[in-house]
Amino acid sequence: MPDPNPAAMEFLLNRRSRPAKTLTTPVPDRAALMPILTAAARSPDHGKLEPWRFMVLERNALLRLATLIDECGDRLGKPPEDIAKARAQYADAHLAVAVIEVQIPSGKIPLLEQTYSAGAVCLALLNAALASGWGANWLSGWASHDRGFVEAGFGLADNERIAGLIHIGTETSAPPERPRPDLDAITTWVTE
Ligand SMILES: Cc1cc2nc3c(=O)[nH]c(=O)nc-3n(C[C@H](O)[C@H](O)[C@H](O)COP(=O)(O)O)c2cc1C
Repeated sequence: MPDPNPAAMEFLLNRRSRPAKTLTTPVPDRAALMPILTAAARSPDHGKLEPWRFMVLERNALLRLATLIDECGDRLGKPPEDIAKARAQYADAHLAVAVIEVQIPSGKIPLLEQTYSAGAVCLALLNAALASGWGANWLSGWASHDRGFVEAGFGLADNERIAGLIHIGTETSAPPERPRPDLDAITTWVTE
């Protein structure tokens, strides 16, 4: 017989991100962040390659990254309003964890599966932060996919890219529920 964990199911059925721009201080300190990172690292990983790592971006690092957005946006031809929004993602944040996908050459494990694993780490990190009582939000943004930005700002190597930026902080307001998928529309029961 199954051995249910109703508290875990209750959390999973009701979890909701908190928009990053509504997050404020305090943010988790290093001690509070460790179990959250530990939970995130406990994610499915085919071949035990550990094709990911964390960069914890504290306030000063986020401010430094914000100063690199203008050059990136100009180079990509982004309009000023997009550049301002992207800059604010960093300049207004107090803590974010970058989940870095580290692609490991392997004859056995396809790179795509390493990407899936990095995405799983992002969700596990988001959920662990939410379950710990913090507000959290998984963001990317065009700058996070730009090689110039991630190499200059994060020092990423050629085999690395940003899977997600998990912003974590104290929530100021709970957002309303958003529409969720129609299970009947996305589920096929294969009976034979
Ligand atoms: C890979 C990925 C990147 C995302 N990037 C952004 C982003 O840059 N900006 C944004 O507003 N939302 C972004 N989102 C969506 C937010 O995480 C959004 O808050 C989320 O859909 C809320 O869902 P939830 O309440 O089910 O957690 C992203 C989501 C994913 C999966």
